[in-house]
Amino acid sequence: MVEYTHTPVSVSGKRAVVVGGTSGIGQAIALGFAEEGADVIATSRSEEKVDETAAAIEERGANTARITCDVTDAASLDAVRETAVEEFGGVDVVVASQGAISRATVLGISDDEWDFVTDVALDGVRKVTQAFAPAMDEGGSIINISSLAAQLSMANLPAYSAAKGGVDAFTRVSAKELAPDVRVNAIAPGFVITPQNADTYAEGTEKRARIDERAPIGRVAEREEMVGAAVFLGSDASSYVTGEVITVDGGFSDSAF
Ligand SMILES: NC(=O)c1ccc[n+]([C@@H]2O[C@H](COP(=O)([O-])OP(=O)(O)OC[C@H]3O[C@@H](n4cnc5c(N)ncnc54)[C@H](O)[C@@H]3O)[C@@H](O)[C@H]2O)c1
Repeated sequence: MVEYTHTPVSVSGKRAVVVGGTSGIGQAIALGFAEEGADVIATSRSEEKVDETAAAIEERGANTARITCDVTDAASLDAVRETAVEEFGGVDVVVASQGAISRATVLGISDDEWDFVTDVALDGVRKVTQAFAPAMDEGGSIINISSLAAQLSMANLPAYSAAKGGVDAFTRVSAKELAPDVRVNAIAPGFVITPQNADTYAEGTEKRARIDERAPIGRVAEREEMVGAAVFLGSDASSYVTGEVITVDGGFSDSAF
């Protein structure tokens, strides 16, 4: 008789908050979690987008709550946490998917542009962690959305790349400090079609052709293709995974020719 059991990859019954969850990758993760049986709050600055995404979560049979936040304002994140605790009784999974970008050069970027990007993309991750980790019980999972830009040089993205490199490092330190109760990991997407970059990666552009040629999978990603990694990291099936950056890039970063 061989005894064997394993934890299935499931977020059913989890209580999740997705910051930056009303557009693009974050919205896909919020809706994906709802379809997989989690309760989900998807939050961002826009009341209209929060409303729209909450309705889509409810359509999938999941519980939600409607609340806006701005990741540059810690008090607004505290309010989201309090809402999750009131409505769901706690928080098991937090995803930081807020995004900000500037395409200025290393020598051309202004203080304001630098601060705008790093305040949202890096300091926002710190604020999300500080707001939610203390309320998370054993088995908690924080998922920071990083980027391939933390690993490969991309011209005209100095603040974004530095912020994402910081997110990877902050993820590792958070994982160490919050273990064993809360696991902290990151997902580094490659090139994903979302509102943020629909023009840059549009079909027929030179950039799109170069991505399609270099990525072994042969194309850019759909935002839904980021959801599987998030479900895995949010699930107890990843109970021994912490401090990791999971790259989801169609093989792009490993491909030379
Ligand atoms: N799309 C890609 O190709 C790609 C690649 C690598 C990494 N990423 C990362 O994925 C994440 C999601 O990006 P996306 O492409 O889905 O972009 P998106 O613009 O569709 O979504 C970003 C979300 O962040 C929210 N947001 C922005 N500023 C905020 C603030 N101050 N407070 C609260 N919410 C705020 C927006 O409202 C939106 O909901 C970002 O961290 C981005 O850097 C995206």
